[in-house]
Amino acid sequence: KKRIWLSRHGESEFNVQDRIGGDANLSLRGRLYAGKLPSLVNEVVGDTSHLTVWTSTLRRTIETAHDLPFAKKQWKALDELDTGVCDGMTYDEIAANFLSRDEDKFNYRYRGGESYRDLVLRLEPVIMELEQLETVLIIAHQATIRCLYAYFMGLDHEQLPYARIPLHTLIELTPVAYGCKEKFYTVDI
Ligand code: F6P
Repeated sequence: KKRIWLSRHGESEFNVQDRIGGDANLSLRGRLYAGKLPSLVNEVVGDTSHLTVWTSTLRRTIETAHDLPFAKKQWKALDELDTGVCDGMTYDEIAANFLSRDEDKFNYRYRGGESYRDLVLRLEPVIMELEQLETVLIIAHQATIRCLYAYFMGLDHEQLPYARIPLHTLIELTPVAYGCKEKFYTVDI
């Protein structure tokens, strides 16, 4: 039976500092998540014989997938939302220097970067290939996971950029007649 598994990367050094974007390594807690993921996957996925793991091309997702003994593929399309001139800034620094995104978060495009709308387009090929496979575990980022989650759960443009996708949580999506059933497995670290 078809299943889609989604997870953000483990906590990164940038997450700890509240900085966005970048290509940081995992923090100690993030590495603990990466270490616990293989046994969680074995426990909840069941038949892993056809499991493929997809990551982005950024360090934090590749490190998170490192201990998973399955076929892997890196997708540039799964990289985090490009935050342009704000890359590497904290949310406080952004709030002090730029207009709020909350007016229209879906369409807000970072200067020199992307919007959630751009991201949805960028992820189209990922979704096409995903539809053809039986079991895929995708390890990506807050914004890219939100877009995939919204596609399968039928969230609209207002809801998508605010979907709650916590760290250190494996999300199971099971297609049903209309949409998907969801289940969240949180790892205590
Ligand atoms: O804070 C982690 C992060 O993945 C950033 O790199 C990214 O800009 C952000 O989340 C996306 O979330 P939001 O659109 O809510 O800022």
